[in-house]
Amino acid sequence: MNPANRRLFTPGDGAMPPVLSGREEQQAVLSRCLSDLVRGESPPHNVVLIGPRGNGKTVLLNWFKRECRASGAVDVAALTPQDIPDSRSLVAELSPRSALARLLPRKVGVATVGSLEWEARTDTPAHLTRRLIAKCSAKPLVVLLDEAHTLDVRVGSALLNASQQVRDEAPFLLVLAATPGLPSHLAKMDASFWNRLGAGRLGVGRLSEDAARTALQEPLKAQNVHLEEDALDQVVDESQRYPYFVQLWGEALWQQRSAAGATSLTSRHVDVARPVVSAQAAEYYQDRYRELEAAGLLAAAVAVRPVFQASADAEASDREIDAALESTGVDAAARLAAREELNRLGYIWCPPGQLPPVTWRAGIPSLMAHVQRQF
Ligand SMILES: Nc1ncnc2c1ncn2[C@@H]1O[C@H](COP(=O)(O)OP(=O)(O)O)[C@@H](O)[C@H]1O
Ligand SMILES: [Mg+2]
Repeated sequence: MNPANRRLFTPGDGAMPPVLSGREEQQAVLSRCLSDLVRGESPPHNVVLIGPRGNGKTVLLNWFKRECRASGAVDVAALTPQDIPDSRSLVAELSPRSALARLLPRKVGVATVGSLEWEARTDTPAHLTRRLIAKCSAKPLVVLLDEAHTLDVRVGSALLNASQQVRDEAPFLLVLAATPGLPSHLAKMDASFWNRLGAGRLGVGRLSEDAARTALQEPLKAQNVHLEEDALDQVVDESQRYPYFVQLWGEALWQQRSAAGATSLTSRHVDVARPVVSAQAAEYYQDRYRELEAAGLLAAAVAVRPVFQASADAEASDREIDAALESTGVDAAARLAAREELNRLGYIWCPPGQLPPVTWRAGIPSLMAHVQRQF
């Protein structure tokens, strides 16, 4: 293969970036949970990774999956809501016995099917809890559930309930990854799950300045490519330190160096890369715009923009958001509902772990300008 065609950066869903930077806190919490499990104890809390899409939640889940497997001491079940559309499939996914039963029909004759059906009838959530306790007593289990905000409410109730009971009896950990609407979705399943998380609520948002620099610079440096300081400043700024855009920029710059055979990347390369990145970012904005449109939120999205315009890191209080939404001419209840919906889509969000007064941030600051232009 022509080495110039090789990819270096990873713009895409859940793709492990060449350098996973700026997630030290989240990694430390997860690592401590893993240590508890390896010692044969349940961690003091489950974990939820929460943040607008494109910030690296799936990447962190994948990182943790690898850590767990590398420990050799815990088993991991990595699921998405599609794997568990109903309680039966939840039991099937997590129960070794029914996993075996699903394999059997291909190997055995019709005569045994009757007894397999009988087995299947014993796959209730109560059986799941008992089997999971037995399983975790033999070897700890970590259940990773990505996109948890789309989980069926009945399945979620069964899972959260089983998780609560199992972790009291044997080493078990549930890790959920989801967009910021998760708390209200969880409330439909188990009123207190979110409150019990304590230190297990981890925000996954845009990167710090340092982390974004590292994410861009280190992979290039490892290929003996130097990204000049002012070029780096420009890219860090234009990417908004939004992980998906950081990867888009990195890849567009890497293609530049491949084409030109350059060992040093300058502002000139940034200028050539910009239209490539802009075109892909525009596609992405347009998807988010259609989501807002489908949810009837365009007017609300445009109304809150001024509150976040001062800088990419601008913060806004509840009151400021509410005052901004007044321009849409709806009553207080509708404004509150609009704020919750904007939060659900990650257009704005409230990172966990803040000291009061808790403030709102823009999901992707540059999306706000796009929405205004398009509306
Ligand atoms: N810490 C990070 N540093 C740099 N890029 C990252 C980081 N975490 C994730 N990415 C990149 O961001 C993009 C989105 O990651 P993903 O895990 O799919 O986000 P989410 O699950 O939150 O939607 C991917 O292209 C991934 O390579
Ligand atoms: Mg994801």
